[in-house]
Amino acid sequence: MKIFLDTANIASIKTFTDMGILDGITTNPTLIAKENKEFGELVSEILRMVPGPVNLEVVSQDSEEMIREGHDLAALGPNVVVKAPMTADGLKAVRRLHKEGIKTNVTLIFSANQALLAAKAGADYASPFIGRLDDAGHEGMKIIEEILPIYRNYDFPTQVLVASIRHPVHVVEAAKLGAHVATMPPDVLDKMLKHPLTDIGLKRFLDDWQKAGLKLPQRESLSVKQKPLVQRAQS
Ligand code: E4P
Repeated sequence: MKIFLDTANIASIKTFTDMGILDGITTNPTLIAKENKEFGELVSEILRMVPGPVNLEVVSQDSEEMIREGHDLAALGPNVVVKAPMTADGLKAVRRLHKEGIKTNVTLIFSANQALLAAKAGADYASPFIGRLDDAGHEGMKIIEEILPIYRNYDFPTQVLVASIRHPVHVVEAAKLGAHVATMPPDVLDKMLKHPLTDIGLKRFLDDWQKAGLKLPQRESLSVKQKPLVQRAQS
């Protein structure tokens, strides 16, 4: 499963790209507005940092306007994916952009039927918002369970991008179901990499090492001149 970060925050993106665990980025108008920066500058920096798909959302509601915005966004970089909302106009825009070879993502999906229509319109990604469904008293992950076999039944190439993830259990559930992508806020990704037993174990190892007064050898202090690793392995 690909992992996308759901943020436009440069510092968070840098933290996780440095670890090599990020496959792409999703943004939305709320996330962009939160950064308080000029859109062009912010997005060019993100595009410089992330080689994978960077999802940028249109903000018009009329299909012709969405298509125009989609062209402008796609011109920012070869890895831009244009996000359009799950509306009749959004689907018209996705249809046209898809025919022109521009990658698209239909966002704000809350049912399997909407996901089916997004795939038929030619979307590269469909984004069901599971956290917001949970908030409304539904079991959000249920629609992922429905959408995946529907796409498989008809060989739709559209990827299910599980969005509105709120905690690490959502990520595990999405991966178990075989979702193509999960996008999550930085705090969820941060929680995924931590476990209290890792911290306790590490502390114990380092305390024991220190108590024994041990030191790792430094290369310059080794008496035997080391051959390069490749030669050593062959000899
Ligand atoms: C996805 O593309 C959206 O930006 C996102 O997942 C929305 O999540 P939220 O419901 O936490 O705002």
